Amino acid sequence: MTSVRNTILVTGGAGFIGSNFVLQWIKNAGAAVVNLDLLTYAGNPANLAALEGDSRHQLVRGDICNGELVAALLHEHRPRVIVHFAAESHVDRSIVDPGAFIRTNVQGTFTLLEQARLFWLELDEADRRAFRFLHVSTDEVYGSLGPEDPAFSEITAYAPNSPYAASKAASDHLARAYHHTYGLPVLTTNCSNNYGPFQFPEKLIPLMILNALEGRHLPVYGDGSNVRDWLFVEDHCSAIRTVLDRGRVGETYNIGGNSERKNLDVVTAICDLVDELRPDAALGPRRKLITFVTDRPGHDRRYAIDASKISRELGWRPAEEFESGLRKTVAWYLEHGAWIENVRTGAYLDWIRQNYQERIPQ
Ligand code: NAD
Ligand code: DAU
Repeated sequence: MTSVRNTILVTGGAGFIGSNFVLQWIKNAGAAVVNLDLLTYAGNPANLAALEGDSRHQLVRGDICNGELVAALLHEHRPRVIVHFAAESHVDRSIVDPGAFIRTNVQGTFTLLEQARLFWLELDEADRRAFRFLHVSTDEVYGSLGPEDPAFSEITAYAPNSPYAASKAASDHLARAYHHTYGLPVLTTNCSNNYGPFQFPEKLIPLMILNALEGRHLPVYGDGSNVRDWLFVEDHCSAIRTVLDRGRVGETYNIGGNSERKNLDVVTAICDLVDELRPDAALGPRRKLITFVTDRPGHDRRYAIDASKISRELGWRPAEEFESGLRKTVAWYLEHGAWIENVRTGAYLDWIRQNYQERIPQ
């Protein structure tokens, strides 16, 4: 029999949400984190610079698809919890290269679940009962809403529309099956769009902040009326901690910010904040940089999360309003020039060329 330690294994903890989670976890729980991350273009150890020299954090560069590595880490560190963030996460990239999404999101999640199950079977009964596998997923698995449809709840039928969403849906089904078939203590969270510090600048909010700052075009897909439900990343992390703490095993919890906004409204709000915080008389109002471009194929119209279950059962609510969170986020990007230079690798610049050169201004 193996017994666990007070350590957690986080996958993808050098990415946007994972790194925010690791920082918050160590600040609040103080317990050690082993962070398994392949450091793809989206993973950045600089997100964790605040933990340099801190023995409670260990970053291991490696692939969740590597079962031997996962097994070795589980046996070496004997974590009581696995929090699984690692994924390919960008919808546009999934349209260009779906294979990478199937590999990491489906095969990788399967490998992790299977190794977790084998490790869990070796535990004594008390540790087996206390063990948790938290699978971090997305609202995109539910597909697209019409303007008057009720928000996604935990019983909304899955209807993924992009290769990214389909790969996440498959991983959710595997997580569910590992609980129902083997009894592995799995929890799943499905969250809406996150924003905040350390988000890679291929996603809407950081991309628009940096383009606005630098006086470049602001490429809005379609007519800009697609709606997303925005959540400040620290609220997502606190929700995950709450689910780990008090969530019922085998359940899924939807997490959202109650902040539905049209993309165009988000972009104009960013323009106004950048104008206020970094006025540029020569450039004039940043709103004039907005350019409507060719839409994303299969672009989901609207996402909205009904987060009443996590609120009712576990008492979690978001702490940040969208307007204050967006202001903090814009300020963060304006103050972190060195971080931005660091993430703008050759691979990032290649992506920007590939994604936008074919998009014709409408
Ligand atoms: P991200 O792309 O910023 O980070 C993903 C991390 O996973 C990176 O550090 C990357 O290096 C790592 N990774 C990728 N492939 C790997 C592999 N094979 N093995 C090990 N590590 C690997 O993503 P994010 O925005 O932080 O999203 C984290 C999770 O949250 C994902 O599962 C995503 O589906 C989910 N999610 C994201 C959002 C959002 O708005 N960003 C919303 C809801 C759910
Ligand atoms: O809903 C949760 C999901 O949110 C997560 O599961 C994904 O990992 C995350 O990437 C995000 O997906 P979206 O596709 O909603 O995020 P993105 O930032 O790529 O786009 C947000 C909206 O902005 C979407 O309607 C497309 C639009 N957009 C995006 C870009 C990059 C533009 O109009 N122009 C752009 O240049």
